[in-house]
Amino acid sequence: MGAIVQARLGWQEYALIDGSDRPAPFLLPTDLPISHGIGAVSLSGITALVGVRDIGGVAATDRILVSGAAGGVGSHVAEIAKALGANEVVGIAGGPEKCARLRHDMAYDHVIDYKNDDVDLALNTLFPEGIDLYFDNVGGALLDNVLARLRRRARIVICGSISEYLIEAEDKHHFINLQNLGRQDAKMEGFFVFDYEDSYPQCLHQLATWVREGALNPVEDISRGIETLPDALADLYLGNNVGVRMVEVGQPDLTV
Ligand SMILES: NC(=O)c1ccc[n+]([C@@H]2O[C@H](COP(=O)([O-])OP(=O)(O)OC[C@H]3O[C@@H](n4cnc5c(N)ncnc54)[C@H](OP(=O)(O)O)[C@@H]3O)[C@@H](O)[C@H]2O)c1
Repeated sequence: MGAIVQARLGWQEYALIDGSDRPAPFLLPTDLPISHGIGAVSLSGITALVGVRDIGGVAATDRILVSGAAGGVGSHVAEIAKALGANEVVGIAGGPEKCARLRHDMAYDHVIDYKNDDVDLALNTLFPEGIDLYFDNVGGALLDNVLARLRRRARIVICGSISEYLIEAEDKHHFINLQNLGRQDAKMEGFFVFDYEDSYPQCLHQLATWVREGALNPVEDISRGIETLPDALADLYLGNNVGVRMVEVGQPDLTV
């Protein structure tokens, strides 16, 4: 009685499940707000942590760039990279409001507004010697642009390619800088967070610890009422969310 679980339940306020639904419930008992248990201290945070630490191998001297920086995953990447020793992180997002949030709420040191700035000029200015670590949520032309600017032994973490999910095959970007991976002895590696289930307990413990210590400040974008769900989903593709988008359909007075 009273257990908090996480499962694929559909868009409904009540559900009857037999307990075999994936993903398995994995919320840990903590003193943190329940919303963190489906955001920073859940898959969004785990994705950022696995990407930066296990795939990206972040190092203190890295010059780091993150795309989709204001999204559910990206909003955690700078703070996690810094908790792991990074010094400076540059984030890319669309629009001045989001870019202001990147600086003030998400620990990004420099920002590029890809909708208004000259991205080439900004990358030249911020990365005169090139990029060591690129956490990519966007794919497409921006990824190609980064491929052209790799430092030696650079790592590209392919987390997502949101700029290409909804376009036709013939409109997808044709990469011209892939050969730079070889020239720069660099690595580009994708990952799927559900393949890292074995490390969830360790990741959740680490993320919760950072939240308690103030090193990780979850950015949550919560709309209220089940009737807001369709717009909340559509907003993800319109770029209207900042941080982890959630819909609250009840008001449990609980902590996880
Ligand atoms: N590898 C994994 O296991 C794993 C796990 C979770 C998520 N993902 C992937 O990681 C990426 C980020 O996920 P998320 O949950 O952080 O997403 P999210 O919260 O939905 O954020 C998406 C953001 O991407 C930006 N965006 C949308 N369309 C774009 C476009 N055409 N060009 C550039 N930016 C665009 C928008 O911000 P702007 O306003 O700044 O454009 C939007 O707010 C997605 O591609 C997702 O599929 C991968």
